[in-house]
Amino acid sequence: MTLADQRNLTKSNAQFQRALKRLPLGVASSFRYWGDDRTIYVARGKGGRIWDIDGNGYVDYRLGYGPAILGYADARVDAAARKGMEVGGVFALSTERELTVADRIAKMVPGMDLVRYSNSGTEAVMAALRLARAHTGRDSYLLVEGGYHGLFDAAMWMADVEDWEAGSNRDPDIISYSKGIPQTLKSLAHLVPMNNMQRLEDVFRRYGNTMAAMLIEPIQGNCCGILATPEYVRLARKLCDEYGVLLIIDEVKTGFRVARGGIQSLLGVIPDISTFAKAMANGYPIAAIAGREDVMRTFGYNGAAHGGTYTAHSVSIAAAEECLRILDETDALANLATYGKTLQNGIAKILDDRNIVHSFTGHDSMFGLFFAEKAPDNYRDWKKSDYTFYDTMAHHLHDLGIIVEPDSREPWFMCEAHDQSCLSDTLKAVEIAVDQTQQDLEDAARS
Ligand SMILES: Cc1ncc(COP(=O)(O)O)c(C=O)c1O
Repeated sequence: MTLADQRNLTKSNAQFQRALKRLPLGVASSFRYWGDDRTIYVARGKGGRIWDIDGNGYVDYRLGYGPAILGYADARVDAAARKGMEVGGVFALSTERELTVADRIAKMVPGMDLVRYSNSGTEAVMAALRLARAHTGRDSYLLVEGGYHGLFDAAMWMADVEDWEAGSNRDPDIISYSKGIPQTLKSLAHLVPMNNMQRLEDVFRRYGNTMAAMLIEPIQGNCCGILATPEYVRLARKLCDEYGVLLIIDEVKTGFRVARGGIQSLLGVIPDISTFAKAMANGYPIAAIAGREDVMRTFGYNGAAHGGTYTAHSVSIAAAEECLRILDETDALANLATYGKTLQNGIAKILDDRNIVHSFTGHDSMFGLFFAEKAPDNYRDWKKSDYTFYDTMAHHLHDLGIIVEPDSREPWFMCEAHDQSCLSDTLKAVEIAVDQTQQDLEDAARS
């Protein structure tokens, strides 16, 4: 009997059938639907692990898409959040902690002079784009293929690489992520392939004078962790300066994770505006928009509207204060990156022993795994990797007690609480999952 045979999802399956009657797809966010008989309902999480309602335990590398940077139910952050609860919630007035947290952000991320808060990454990027438009008086903007900036209409334009022929010299079509996005908005969004300097210069030459902003995730946290080269981001900075376009570095996933100062500090590029969210408060809902003083002061009565009933809720802001203190004052980030490196080495050995071609990208704290010799440096090249191998392996990993995203475009996330036992459980499972995947693919090829 394999470990996989032991997973029982009876209760999750029954919950799914009940939930379906009241919740579309039986879930609260469409990405949580993993199929009628594979959708999991969580009972609790602690450290680097979660347990479903059937009692199956998993080492988790999704971490809620990144927020649980210290691990689930971290006692230090939760104690701070409880103190925040005693403050009373929201008042449609400010509290002192907003400044304390803004000071911490400004200290950790050079160039982030002023700060405003939101509740989610989507809200923060939406506010950042509005701020850029208000500051420049322009409407259009530039996105990088494979980037993701949340679920607001302006951000939901993507290169249709799935229906595009790899290697073709035609650009992929630009499509919306979803129905319900007004097609009239499409003309405002320009897209460029990551790391293609020539294409970047061309698009600035053609549209630079009408663009308010360029949005970039230098580690594409929703596209395998594809990395922007430092030269590419430096060129983006230079072109933005030349054409009066504001550079927005979206650090919703990378901020307070890949380094105290985010990916921008590793690249040595200071954007005009930056957005942060996931790792800010270990999962409590809070996000930040930060940036250059003159730009940020465009928020105000006669400038860009910004606000919201739940902004800087007393629980979330207290959790952020403690989470950022830990990330700033301890070795948490270095330790979780070391774990990520050790995990990659372990996976590499298993794959090398079987002569399976692979590569990693991203950062040790959030890495993508590819079945291709060279990791892609733009979304179009993802298509050349063997993502069928990844997708099949991911399903086996779930059965074996390891949670990774079923889609190879989501990186694996590390947290401070991942420990030796998580590591050895993961590597044991990867070894079995790889063998099962090879077997499945051989069987499929024969039939
Ligand atoms: C880079 C980036 N920006 C924005 C968002 C949207 O954040 P949220 O899901 O909190 O709205 C995400 C979410 O994954 C993201 O990765």
